[in-house]
Amino acid sequence: MEESYQKLIRGNKLFAETKLFQDPDYFKKLAEGQTPTYLWIGCSDSRVPANEITHTQSGEIFVHRNIANLVVHTDSNLLSVLEYAVNFLNVKHIIVCGHYGCGGVNAAMSNSFHGFVDNWLRNIKDVYHKHEKELAAIEDRTDRANRLTELNVIEQVRNLAKTTIVQKAWSERPLFLHGWVYGLNNGLVKDLAVIHDEGEDIDPIYRFDISKKTDHS
Ligand code: CO
Repeated sequence: MEESYQKLIRGNKLFAETKLFQDPDYFKKLAEGQTPTYLWIGCSDSRVPANEITHTQSGEIFVHRNIANLVVHTDSNLLSVLEYAVNFLNVKHIIVCGHYGCGGVNAAMSNSFHGFVDNWLRNIKDVYHKHEKELAAIEDRTDRANRLTELNVIEQVRNLAKTTIVQKAWSERPLFLHGWVYGLNNGLVKDLAVIHDEGEDIDPIYRFDISKKTDHS
């Protein structure tokens, strides 16, 4: 136990030394502030680290992770991250990234009892219910879980589009929402091409009447 913990401390020293060797001002520059272009909403799964799988560096991606990459409109943690990323950091892209083989999606597809987390996973059960016809027609369980993973990402992107924060931003500037699914077995991202850049295709009941700014002065 002690050995596995110490590994992290040693790893951190190696990380800091390597960065300083490559650029003596590396941390000095990072300490001055962050201007990330992307907000990442991903799964907490240890195999899907945002920076590593996108080959990006510290400072490039603002990150929020939870079990099964959900955008829940009553989640004050997610909403705070979203508001800060959109209104203060002015990110241009928001990426919801799910992954095949997601334990949360698998659990939601089953009738097993896990405890409190089942209340969180209920959001995925709702996605299943919404797309039950399509999913029920898929015989193979893994194929069905894979499709539910994709549908879950698509619904979470839609949930983003329904927020006051995103709709307010759209009235003022470009902001792109993307849905991705990462393959644990090949390391590659599948872009689901569910890009939203305005509220036109949101069901009318979810649209807020925010007048577009015409004066950009
Ligand atoms: Co997952």
